[in-house]
Amino acid sequence: MSEVIRYQSQNKKIGEGKFVFIQSFGCQMNERDAESLSGMLGDLGYQPTESRDKADIILLNTCCVRETAESKVFGLLGRLRKLKVAKPDLILGVCGCMPQQEDVAKRIRHSFPFVDLIFGTHNIHELPRMIYQIRENQEAVLEVWATEKGIAENVPVQRKDKLKAWVTIMYGCNNFCTYCIVPYVRGRERSRTPEDIRREIEELVQEGYQEVTLLGQNVNSYGKDLEQNYRFADLLLDLDKIEGLKRIRFMTSHPRDFDDKLIEVVASSKKVCEHYHLPAQAGSNRILKAMNRGYTREHYLELIAKIKKFVPNASITADLMVGFPGETEEDFQDTLDLVRQVRYDSAFTFVYNIRTGTPAATMEQVPEEIKSERIQRLIELQNQISLANNQADEGKILEVLVEGETKNNPDRLAGRTRTNKLVVFTGPLEISGKLVQVKITKGRPNLLEGELVLNSTIG
Ligand code: SAM
Ligand code: SF4
Ligand code: F3S
Repeated sequence: MSEVIRYQSQNKKIGEGKFVFIQSFGCQMNERDAESLSGMLGDLGYQPTESRDKADIILLNTCCVRETAESKVFGLLGRLRKLKVAKPDLILGVCGCMPQQEDVAKRIRHSFPFVDLIFGTHNIHELPRMIYQIRENQEAVLEVWATEKGIAENVPVQRKDKLKAWVTIMYGCNNFCTYCIVPYVRGRERSRTPEDIRREIEELVQEGYQEVTLLGQNVNSYGKDLEQNYRFADLLLDLDKIEGLKRIRFMTSHPRDFDDKLIEVVASSKKVCEHYHLPAQAGSNRILKAMNRGYTREHYLELIAKIKKFVPNASITADLMVGFPGETEEDFQDTLDLVRQVRYDSAFTFVYNIRTGTPAATMEQVPEEIKSERIQRLIELQNQISLANNQADEGKILEVLVEGETKNNPDRLAGRTRTNKLVVFTGPLEISGKLVQVKITKGRPNLLEGELVLNSTIG
């Protein structure tokens, strides 16, 4: 079981009248971390701003899962140099997954010497002390912990949304898929205690939040490192009892560790939504083995069949990758065939990208033009299926949690179904934050259009 570090407020309002701009890249875990960064700085008196020019602190909370994510940050740092020259008191920081790689932290230090603060994923909770140190000593701070030292609790948080909240239930990953950098930059799996998770969610409900998404790189592993025999399904059953909470989502599930109990819990619980994000990555057994995914195509399809049997209205989505080293046209056809069999509602599709230090980096690579051509074919197929699935929803009456007006058309409201599909419809703004029934009139490639069922507010 991981040591718990209880965060203590500094009670020093050194940021009074000052502003912070945080830009986060990458996955939801990073988004959630950014909310803690913002919370801790808020505790020091700093207010959030959307303007880099107005900011007294700029933090880039980085991702390194693909090269493009890293390139964006390097490009941005180059452009920020001017701002730093014009405003020498500006504190410019780089944190998150990129600096957690030693060579990258060094590169940032050497190529962008005007950066004041570099820290990693394991010492986020130390941010106030580091800011204080920079302000006091007027010198740069580089602190990256090579390994994780525990779980920080009671960290202040400023959330972006007022209705839906991210709740990290575990940190790290033990899987070491051969293409992936995450285990190297996020450390080993550590589960938060059920008590800490429950407390956070109960507080969220008191603040008016209606929906939580439980986050982890592999939520099915939750609890394996706890002293008590308490696993992910037990956590879901307990959270389902929290009064006032309307919806529970979770991601990401690993197909290898997904057990029958979890299917039963989703089928039987009221609040856990019927949406399974189950990254397949590939459809060929040869490639799955080389990826070290720990399951076969047959196991994956069996799992999908079980889900469809017990939760017939479930939505299934995935992450899929093309161009893993050694992938032949036949292997790729297996992925297309898997997609045709499962008929995902949507999928995040990725082109394999070398990550130095991972085993796949030294394997025989697929030429770029073949990868580009395969991703196009995969996206085309998935788009056809997404549209057909959405059209199959036409005529259905679905429960929608109303999130507010749409960005481009204030007369239209937007919300999500339990299956996490976006629905737009006309209705009064006052029903924002409520659960309503919407009759689906049109399925589009990425959303559903509908009509509000009158007097259908159900909560
Ligand atoms: N833990 C999740 C899982 O096992 O599916 C995924 C987390 S990872 C941050 C998100 C996605 O990034 C992966 O599912 C994978 O498809 C993609 N990804 C990871 N490494 C990659 C790489 N080297 N090149 C391209 N895509 C990659
Ligand atoms: Fe990466 Fe695999 Fe861990 Fe997901 S399960 S974060 S893909 S190593
Ligand atoms: Fe990127 Fe780190 Fe998430 S590498 S995908 S931000 S865990």
